Amino acid sequence: MAQVRHGKIPNWYNKDSEFEEAFHEDSPNAKITNEAVEKILKKYKVKTVLDLTCGTGSQVFWLTNRGYQVIGSDISPGMLKIAQRKAKAEKIKTPFLLGDMRTIKVGKFDAAITIFNAIGHLTKAGFAKAMRNIYANLNDGGIYVFDIFNLNCITNDDYITKLTLDRVTTTGDTKVREIQYSIIDHRGILVSYTTFYEQRGSEKPKASKNVITLQLYTVEELSEMLERNGFKVLGYSGIDGSRFSETATERVLMVARKL
Ligand SMILES: C[S@@+](CC[C@H](N)C(=O)[O-])C[C@H]1O[C@@H](n2cnc3c(N)ncnc32)[C@H](O)[C@@H]1O
Repeated sequence: MAQVRHGKIPNWYNKDSEFEEAFHEDSPNAKITNEAVEKILKKYKVKTVLDLTCGTGSQVFWLTNRGYQVIGSDISPGMLKIAQRKAKAEKIKTPFLLGDMRTIKVGKFDAAITIFNAIGHLTKAGFAKAMRNIYANLNDGGIYVFDIFNLNCITNDDYITKLTLDRVTTTGDTKVREIQYSIIDHRGILVSYTTFYEQRGSEKPKASKNVITLQLYTVEELSEMLERNGFKVLGYSGIDGSRFSETATERVLMVARKL
């Protein structure tokens, strides 16, 4: 069982992922997010982008294919390996760097992004440090775009039960059944317990388990943190760009400007 402590990256990010497709830029979930992110970048006339939690490259490929100059970095060698393999196959020259969003210095960009709940892997102190590092990687007036589960929605009524899932995905001849449920503690840390049953062809299914923690935030708290660390909040919405609702928006997408 792959146990993780809060603030550490989940081990499964380092698997040479059979779940690659789940992060593909054209998968339904990723597409909605990537479209909303690009709309923001377009609005603020961004040309250069640093994706500090690029994973297998969902936003990097999406944006590169639409004319942005993008560099991707991530703390997970396993995720980067997949991104590099894909870049080679698609003859895309985007650089992918190994690094921690709290410390990596790449240059000066019009925008920095950390998408798909990536900041939730950090403690609150870690996220404040990441904000200061993102500030250092931005041009004056540059923007920072990120998303995270909205704490006020997840703790509203019995909303958390909506995060329960039981789904089967098939990649090639491998079928994976994923059963997940989540709880949330008094600090706003979401703990998700997952059991996987992986079956190759007609072999006997293999079971494995993992636990992932994510630090969640309210918009109010995020705004205070951004302002304390040199940013001005420009706006926030649902992950698909929809109007934000305090209790009904599950994932908030935020944009802030470096002052
Ligand atoms: C849910 S994945 C999202 C990847 C990609 N943005 C996407 O939408 O597919 C979160 C990513 O954050 C990365 N990550 C977690 N902690 C990190 C850190 N401290 N610095 C850089 N990357 C980190 C993980 O390795 C993982 O690739």
